[in-house]
Amino acid sequence: MSSKDIYILGIESSCDDTSAAVLKNGKVLSNIIVDQVIHKNYGGVVPELASRAHLSNIIPVVESAIKKANISLNQLSAISFTLGPGLMGSLIVGTEFSKALGLSLKIPVIEVNHMQAHLLVHFINNGKEKPTFPFLGVNISGGHTQFILVEDYFKMTILGQSIDDAIGEAFDKCGKKLGLGYPAGPLIDNLAKKGDEKKFKFPLPKVEGGNISYSGSKTAFINFLNKNQVKNEKFINENINDICASIQKNLIDNLMTKVELLYVNNNLSSIVFGGGVSANSYLKKRLIRYSKINNLKIFIPELQFSTDNAAMIAIVGYLKYKESFKSNLKSTPSPRLTF
Ligand code: KG4
Ligand code: ZN
Repeated sequence: MSSKDIYILGIESSCDDTSAAVLKNGKVLSNIIVDQVIHKNYGGVVPELASRAHLSNIIPVVESAIKKANISLNQLSAISFTLGPGLMGSLIVGTEFSKALGLSLKIPVIEVNHMQAHLLVHFINNGKEKPTFPFLGVNISGGHTQFILVEDYFKMTILGQSIDDAIGEAFDKCGKKLGLGYPAGPLIDNLAKKGDEKKFKFPLPKVEGGNISYSGSKTAFINFLNKNQVKNEKFINENINDICASIQKNLIDNLMTKVELLYVNNNLSSIVFGGGVSANSYLKKRLIRYSKINNLKIFIPELQFSTDNAAMIAIVGYLKYKESFKSNLKSTPSPRLTF
């Protein structure tokens, strides 16, 4: 070990995934993610159950991340953790665990904004090309749909965001109506592969400027299913692939309209995606075609770094550590943290 090596332990516990990762000089040595299957029974995340599950998961998850990285705890340079946004009870578990471990190891703890981390995950040292500033950041997850002007690691300005549901929430709520499990996003993605995206048409909401809306599509979708089920009770079963492909196209068309408006208006030629919905295979296919036609650089995280993970928290910890940032041990979680 060189004395200059920087080892960061990242801890993520903002929603329903307990995750711990170790990075050496910005390179991932381990990234352990335990998702909480208990929520599948409820069709969505139950906050009280999420915080209890984090409590029982956190120590084993950290132990496996340290073991897989093949280091000892006293080699760590710092611990970074998600301060927010997220569920209060869930955030408390990761924050307090990190502060206590940092105190006992006598190393700094570094707070991280979960939404910044979804975009900065692209700066992990993995030999791949990294985005250059400025770029349009597009965060698409279960809790957020945000368009961000990113001028530097920590110079981020929101250009627009959802005025109601997030795109992932729309996927999940439409999937719930179809009787699919939670989270429904990946299930819709899969079923849609065998479907005709032009079979059913849903209206696109008209929202001025950079903001976006998803509750209208969800309501139109629910009304459409109710109407068709009255005529044919087997409507969903008989058309599931086409229904999934058509609603997925609508949700992604809506997103792409805003992406186009914002990169053009802000004179940007790089677009960086983050968050669970960026795992969507139909979106990826469209973006590859779109980037070629419009001569754009598009960055989509690899699957393990799209949905919630601690490697993204650790890379932000690494970037802040190099700038000598330290959190106060009195810092408390911030469920509505913004930039
Ligand atoms: O970023 P994330 O793991 O957690 C939040 O911070 O919300 O995102 C979870 C969201 C869920 O709504 C899930 O349905 C969606 O990402 N998602 C997908 C796909 N994989 C995950 N949505 C569409 N297609 C996918 N392949
Ligand atoms: Zn997230």
